[in-house]
Order: sequence, then C-alpha cells, then structure tokens
Amino acid sequence: MARAKAQFVCQNCGTVHSRWAGKCDGCGAWNTLVEENEAGGIASGPGKPRSKGKPVALTSLSGDIEDAPRIRTGISELDRVTGGGFVRGSALLVGGDPGIGKSTLLMQAAAALARQGNTIIYVSGEEAVAQIRLRAQRLGAADTDVKLAAETNVEDILATLAQEKRPDLVIIDSIQTLWSDVAESAPGTVTQVRTGAQAMIRFAKKTGAAVVLVGHVTKEGQIAGPRVVEHMVDAVLYFEGDRGHHYRILRTVKNRFGPTDEIGVFEMSDGGLGEVANPSELFLGERNDKAPGASVFAGMEGTRPVLVEVQALVAPSPLGTPRRAVVGWDSARLSMILAVLEAHCGVRLGQHDVYLNVAGGYRISEPAADLAVASALVSSLAGLALPADCVYFGEISLSGAVRPVAHTAQRLKEAEKLGFGQAVLPKGSSDMPKNASGTWNTVDALADLVVKIAG
Ligand code: TYD
Ligand code: MG
Repeated sequence: MARAKAQFVCQNCGTVHSRWAGKCDGCGAWNTLVEENEAGGIASGPGKPRSKGKPVALTSLSGDIEDAPRIRTGISELDRVTGGGFVRGSALLVGGDPGIGKSTLLMQAAAALARQGNTIIYVSGEEAVAQIRLRAQRLGAADTDVKLAAETNVEDILATLAQEKRPDLVIIDSIQTLWSDVAESAPGTVTQVRTGAQAMIRFAKKTGAAVVLVGHVTKEGQIAGPRVVEHMVDAVLYFEGDRGHHYRILRTVKNRFGPTDEIGVFEMSDGGLGEVANPSELFLGERNDKAPGASVFAGMEGTRPVLVEVQALVAPSPLGTPRRAVVGWDSARLSMILAVLEAHCGVRLGQHDVYLNVAGGYRISEPAADLAVASALVSSLAGLALPADCVYFGEISLSGAVRPVAHTAQRLKEAEKLGFGQAVLPKGSSDMPKNASGTWNTVDALADLVVKIAG
C-alpha cells in the first residue's frame, strides 16, 4: 500500500489544508492545524465483492408510516430536547465544556433506562470503572444494571459491544478519547475522532441501538472538538451554563427526528442534575423589581415560554468613546437599538456608557427581546423603575416601528401564570389570548413607549 499523502487538518473545524499555516482558512482559528494522514476511515479489504443496492420508488413503499422508535428516559427535560426520547438506530452527540455535567446527566439517563429493563452500556475512556461507580453512587444509581466499560480503542469497544446481545443504548464518553487501529494519527485528532464516531454510528445503524457520543468543547484546538462530527450524527445537543450559576441548559441544535431550538433546564446539586420544570421562576428568582433599568422579557425557547430579566445601566461616560458592554445578548443588536432610540425617539446616548446584562447567565437569541431591551435602557437613563408586574416583547425595526412576533398567546399566558398583570406588546399581534385578565398594552412606535416610560 502506498503511503498516504500528508495533509493538515484544522482541529477546530476540520478544514483540510495542503500545507501548514498558522491560521485556519476555514474558521480563522490560530494554531489549530495538525498534520494528519489522508487515509482515514475503516479500510475495506481489497477485492471484496460489492453488493448492489436497488433504488425503490417512494410510492411503492406501503404500510403505515411509523414514528421513529424511541426510548424514553422519563427525565422530562431530557426527553423534551431529544424530541421524545433517544431514537433507536440513531446517533446523538452531546457537547459541552469540560465539567459542565455531561457525564452526570448521561449516567442519570442510563440509570433511569436501566431501571425500566433496558440494556445500557456506558463506555468511558476518561474514568476508570471504579470512578464511574463512585459517581453513580452519588447519583443514587449504583443499584442499577448499567454495564460499565473503560475502553478507548474502537475495535476493542466494538468487540465488547458484540458480546452483549442487544444493547438498547450505548454511551461513549468521550469521542476525544477514541482511537482506532486503522487511522494513523494521534488520538484526539480530527481523523481519529471522525473514524471512531463513524464506527459507532455504523454500529447504531446496524444493531438498532441508540448511541450517544459525548464531545468536549475544546478551546485550544489541540484536540478535535465536537463540531467535526456534528454533520455525521442524527442529533446534536449542547450543554450551556457557566460556573457562576448552578443551572444548566441543554439545547438542541440539530435533530433529524424532532424539533430544534428546544431547551431543557437542569439544576446541578449534590445529587446530580435535577429537572427545572418552570425555568421562568428560576430566572426571575432574585429580582429587585424596584430598581430602574430592569425589564422582564417574555421570550420563547422552542415550544416553551421563558421569562427573563433584562438589566441595563446607562451612565454618563468619562471617556471620549463611551463603553458598550453586553452579556447574554447580541452586541450588534444593542447598537441598533441605541441608534433607533437616538434617531427616532430623541434619546441621546452618545455621551453615555451602556451596559446590558441578561439575568442569571441566560442567553437570548430572539429579536423579540428588542422592546424589553429598549425599555430597560430608557428606564435606566430616566432613573425611573418600570412597573413591577409588566412584561415586554416585540421586535423593533430601523424605522422605529414595533413589529409583531410569533406566539403572543403563549408568552402572555406564561406571564399571567407567574403573576404579571400587564404587558407591552406590538400592535397587530395576531394570536391575542381571549378572556385574559391582564392589561395588555399595544404599541406600534417605539417613540410612544419612550414617552410613556420617561414621562
Ligand atoms: P461531569 O458530569 O463530570 O462533567 P463533564 O462530563 O461534562 O466533564 O460534571 C462534573 C461537575 O459536576 C463537577 O464539577 C462536579 C459537579 N457535580 C455536582 O455538583 N454534583 C454531582 O452530583 C456530580 C456527579 C457532579
Ligand atoms: Mg465527563
């Protein structure tokens, strides 16, 4: 066999370069190129007779269309993000920073499924069996039938799995520890991670087991990140949250068998990750509703309404170029709101520092938060607190108009449920709830709202 040609693969995004460079052309990351061998993938022997497939017409397929067969964990926050449970014969990637709780959650899921009589195999390349057992004990899962294996070689793992009759779920923790005999690169490189993931995905399709791959998000590109296998798997979940807060958000970013944009919310405690059934209560937990500069945004995450507090601080700046700092929201979007306030509402912020923070370390991605942000900014500038029982949502256009957003009824219902009696929302919102008890104020120009807040 001729020796394969060398190539340089970015460990962050997987872009292949023919020569080494300091910066990756694909993702712009520095120092992430590593020399790898071109011959990746599991080689099939030469001269093996090929089987021919025959295409079938879609219309010729008869029988009822069934939903993908699923295994429900009973952990409802997890089942929600997977779209109703792990799908048999599919591969799911769970990504997140090291230490965020991936192994913890998956051990809890494994224990819950084992209690229902499923065969679960937990393959760990990071911890010894004794360590996993210790964790299971902490999680109250040590009495379950979860089968543990501490292995990192792909061929060994497949041989181990072959001894089990029909595993329902196989967890691989983590893809970065996998290495295969057939790939010549060092463990942790893109080629190794991809080859290992590919082998596990093939195992899932062949045996009908659900396979969960754990992937650490890596900052430095020395080992390959989960991004390089995202396109190979059927579903991708990411764990978010920061060390300063004890709750964690599991977010669907890709799902071939269910909705994306769903979130599951968990709280980390001594006994592992607990479900948070009502995230709004958590995010609004330590609210000081008398302070100027705070507004409550009625947001949506997938099918679920979430209320969060938006905090703004506007103060005269000693600097020539005032500061703008944003946590939990898009800073480009903040600049846009500031420009609209200045151009259409007569709110001058050119000499002011502006700080914006979404409470609890939560991240808002919806443009519907515009109105809540603008209200918080104006409230802070004016030094006047907003009504404590009011929620805000609506998109602001560059012309200063307030535009309707989707899911009006759900947002208002959630607000009502949590004791908010007022809302400010766009005029022309379509699905207004019937017979609601709250006061719903509609606005169509941001300038009108500014006058109302600042007097
Ligand atoms: P872990 O699941 O090991 O993270 P990952 O697999 O994503 O790297 O979680 C480790 C962190 O969680 C660690 O900092 C300790 C904490 N933890 C708890 O607070 N309570 C618990 O019951 C467990 C098992 C872990
Ligand atoms: Mg772990």
